[in-house]
Amino acid sequence: MTPVTDRARHELVRVARDLFAHAEAGTTPLADDVLELPASEYTDATLFEQEVRGIFRRVPLLLAASCEVAGAGDKKAMEIAGIPVVLVRGRDGVARAFLNVCTHRGSIVSDGCGTAARLVCPYHGWTFDDRGDLVGVPLRSDVGDVDTAARALRQFPVLERAGLIWAVLDPESTIDITGFLGVFGDMLEKFGFESWHVLGSRSLDGANWKLALDAHLDFYHLPVLHKATFGPDVSAKAFYYDWGPHQRLTRPAKRGGPAVPEYANLFAQQDLGEHGWTDEAMMLGEWIIYPHVSINSFYTGVRGVLISQIFPGTTVDRSVTVQTYLVEHEPDDEAREAAEALFDFLGRVVGDEDLPTSFAQQRALGAGLLPSVCYGRNEGGVQRFHQWNQRILTTDSNELDGLFHG
Ligand code: FES
Repeated sequence: MTPVTDRARHELVRVARDLFAHAEAGTTPLADDVLELPASEYTDATLFEQEVRGIFRRVPLLLAASCEVAGAGDKKAMEIAGIPVVLVRGRDGVARAFLNVCTHRGSIVSDGCGTAARLVCPYHGWTFDDRGDLVGVPLRSDVGDVDTAARALRQFPVLERAGLIWAVLDPESTIDITGFLGVFGDMLEKFGFESWHVLGSRSLDGANWKLALDAHLDFYHLPVLHKATFGPDVSAKAFYYDWGPHQRLTRPAKRGGPAVPEYANLFAQQDLGEHGWTDEAMMLGEWIIYPHVSINSFYTGVRGVLISQIFPGTTVDRSVTVQTYLVEHEPDDEAREAAEALFDFLGRVVGDEDLPTSFAQQRALGAGLLPSVCYGRNEGGVQRFHQWNQRILTTDSNELDGLFHG
């Protein structure tokens, strides 16, 4: 596991102390006020275009877990906010993200996931190596004087950290991705994702991308919308903690759902004092990496996380949620079966309950007769997400670093 600075544990302990204090007092922190926003937040096509360009093409995005492209030549192609991207692990071990557009005449160079020493364009066969350099042009002498150096694949800025890979989908961007993550990145390192394994992955279609993300930021709906899956007694209260635009949600008391082992049960460790509180216990809850990712922990005989990446679709009323389930260790048969059953369950929770609800919201809001929506004081994390969207959309690119560092 990558060593992390003390400030990560310091933050985790600070949150744990706060949770214990609230549990003892029977209190829940609330936002200052109810937030009201125009209902067009979810239906305005112009705003959607501004978000695609102003957020998804300027802010670092989580492309993959490192273990998805663990070996030399491993690749993952995807389309994000209309931009074709291919992520490649080079022979030098470095993960690079390229614009997945051939520099000959613009074909998509690579699709899907897999392993290949080189990327070969399926149209005329131009070939690029693991650094994106153009290394092969069929009928080279007939093609004529092409500057191969200038015809390399366009490359995006990338940061691999905490066993996760971020990129900014603007080749010219100079944004400081480490600064964007701040201490939140230090805390994510405590997962040690560098050595984890992929159990499975799936894509689910949804409505507007913010409707999809709102559902991850809100425990309020759990005992109502998910009463058939999580049960009606699951807590509706969420405790929100934020570091810049990133957030962590957790519960005020012992977590329900799949059994949490002793080493990860914070409330069972309370009496041990802070030196007895394990990192695993203090990491429980949902980690929201702005602007589009949720990471949630589970235990099924093997520690696992569900990473949900939410991407805007081609129109304001569409999004795609990519769910990837990682496990800390290669599970034995029994643990694998339990983890796969949980992954299926989580797919049903989101695919059969959250996303159909957001499609219905989309249609209802699209009727245009409800002027506004509101977010209660108990939905502070949802409020903060929408407020950060507005802050970023109104900030010039050369001032974004200051916004995140501030
Ligand atoms: Fe790629 Fe022609 S468009 S080789």
